[in-house]
Amino acid sequence: MKPNLRRIRNLLFSFALLGSFFLQNGCAQTNKSAPFLKQFTPGKMWPDVNGVHINAHGGGILFFNDTYYWFGEHKSERTSSAQVGINCYSSKDLYNWKFKQVALPVQDSAGSDIEKGSVMERPKVIFNKNTQKFVMYFHLELKGKGYSAARVGIAVADNVTGPYTYLRSLRPNAGVWPMNMTDEQKNAKATLSDFPEWWTKEWRKAVDDGLFTRRDFEGGQMSRDMTLYVDDDGTAYHIYASEENLTLNIAELSDDYLSYTGKYIRVAPGGHNEAPAIFKKDGTYFMITSGCTGWDPNAARLHTAPSIWGPWTQHPNPCTGPDADLTFHSQSTYILPVEGKKDAFIFMADRWNPRRPIDATYVWLPIQFKNNLPVLEWKDKWDLSIFDE
Ligand code: DGJ
Repeated sequence: MKPNLRRIRNLLFSFALLGSFFLQNGCAQTNKSAPFLKQFTPGKMWPDVNGVHINAHGGGILFFNDTYYWFGEHKSERTSSAQVGINCYSSKDLYNWKFKQVALPVQDSAGSDIEKGSVMERPKVIFNKNTQKFVMYFHLELKGKGYSAARVGIAVADNVTGPYTYLRSLRPNAGVWPMNMTDEQKNAKATLSDFPEWWTKEWRKAVDDGLFTRRDFEGGQMSRDMTLYVDDDGTAYHIYASEENLTLNIAELSDDYLSYTGKYIRVAPGGHNEAPAIFKKDGTYFMITSGCTGWDPNAARLHTAPSIWGPWTQHPNPCTGPDADLTFHSQSTYILPVEGKKDAFIFMADRWNPRRPIDATYVWLPIQFKNNLPVLEWKDKWDLSIFDE
């Protein structure tokens, strides 16, 4: 073979090899060299210690035994439904993450709640000091049913990284009224069929007055986007988008965190909030949420309260600067208190990529405070020393 022809053949062979590597691994997994990271670069690919883009979307973090554990949705290349399950990563410094294992794998058996192809979103894990168990809650949608199931899934483990044992799914607080609903609202007779048109003034008033709470009273309240919060006294709360995503609920969990005490409130009725993320500073509870626009970003909302039970007050969007009205093209998932630093909180958000869910990136930003309210400013890069300034 002539040298030129040989060079062309070798070149074609190299392209074929490269192509098959991309096909097998996808863009998100091609970088095998593992840089040691010393800063956050919001919105960029984030390689784990093996050089593979972190796959833990809609996640939350648990700090346990001097280590951070990040739990999030494994996302695949073509679908947002669960093909693998809930992933767990660990880190000592918050920049460099090691994949530990699939903490809660999807199940093979047809009809299982967490069957491959179901939707398992926004997992959060908390540690129960009484039982010494790790408890995971996540938003569950049953396979083939779109987003109509609106349930919460509960799983438990003896080890932080899992494997977690799936216990059950439910709609919270069946047969229980929220603490902040009046007798008049509980006994009101209006039903959905009285409102052929939504978003009218009358419909809004009826939603405010518990139209959907009454509809779902017997079977339990709908539960979609969610987070968990453990207060200083060890009491845990499940915060979830309910009533067709129109109203948030905050519900107290039992001592073992595996069920509900029946104490719960409705927050921002008809306010259409998703993606709740919460923290406490100087006795005030701060909650950042998003509006409801599917995978597309929208403006974040800020709510504060002097007690978890309210009253909750809404404030203007905490984001400032360019793209503030789109939360910098992201949606909140968790707010992480940084260990060992006072008043240091990281806003964690997802920049979704519904066309290639695996390539969705993470937007982590430091929470700054102005006039005692959180402020989020875009940063191309930053590190934890910002909290020492
Ligand atoms: C927005 C939610 O916040 C996400 O978790 C996901 O459920 C998408 N909607 C689905 O459209």
